[in-house]
Amino acid sequence: MKTLVKTLKRSAAAGAVVLAALSLQPGSAQAQPAPGPGAAPPVVGGKPAAKGEFPWMVRLSMGCGGALYTRTIVLTAAHCVDGSGADTSITATAGVVDLRDSGAVKVKSTRVLQAPGYNGTGKDWALIKLAQPIDLPTLPIAQTTAYDKGDFTVAGWGAAGEGGGQQRYLLKATVPFVDDATCKSAYPDLVAGEEICAGFMEEGGVDTCQGDSGGPMFRKDDTGGWIQVGIVSWGDGCARPGKPGVYTQVSRFTSDIRAGAGQLGG
Ligand code: ARG
Repeated sequence: MKTLVKTLKRSAAAGAVVLAALSLQPGSAQAQPAPGPGAAPPVVGGKPAAKGEFPWMVRLSMGCGGALYTRTIVLTAAHCVDGSGADTSITATAGVVDLRDSGAVKVKSTRVLQAPGYNGTGKDWALIKLAQPIDLPTLPIAQTTAYDKGDFTVAGWGAAGEGGGQQRYLLKATVPFVDDATCKSAYPDLVAGEEICAGFMEEGGVDTCQGDSGGPMFRKDDTGGWIQVGIVSWGDGCARPGKPGVYTQVSRFTSDIRAGAGQLGG
């Protein structure tokens, strides 16, 4: 089973292969036609997000998602980055739903901090420091496990189905919480203390997919504001019945993320 999970966790690379096969640069915006009536459903089983609906949502040039944790730091997945240290190779695109929008804000990275102790199992979070601040709202992260339940929103420019191409337009979907015991029955290797699952166990049909990794899973808090509870991490295929999506359980890493952001200079 370890092998299975490791294989699944390399699906970011698999997503990049799909991009290459379509002659696309990771993070480029040439993948799909504009969504319209009858268009393939996005994320998997979702619909287009409105411009400004999720203003902190970021597309990263290696083919992952992310969210603005501060105006100069993007929270993403550890498996989306190569390690920690100086890194000017990543471009963050923000402020748009259409990646080809001429008004997109594009900012380069300066440093990356991969979760300390990350070894491919659990701890799937990383921070990317930006060369300039992005003047857009940030997404607060959950401070406690209180919001680790209910219905969650996910969004991303990743594939709309297994093996599918990356999307030009940001897509969103709603997925319900799946408890650890149920998720463990699907994935015996689940790191229940560090991962949180979501999806429709019986029917499948709605999920994140390759290229959505690193993007946020979020919900409303008690004051009506968005709060991040998860980071897109892995799953067996996409939207398969009995195979929910697995997300980094952000509430378990709140203090580590805060400390990491401090190291990056906020
Ligand atoms: N690992 C994938 C990526 O790098 C995300 C897969 C999410 N899969 C899922 N079934 N929810 O983009």
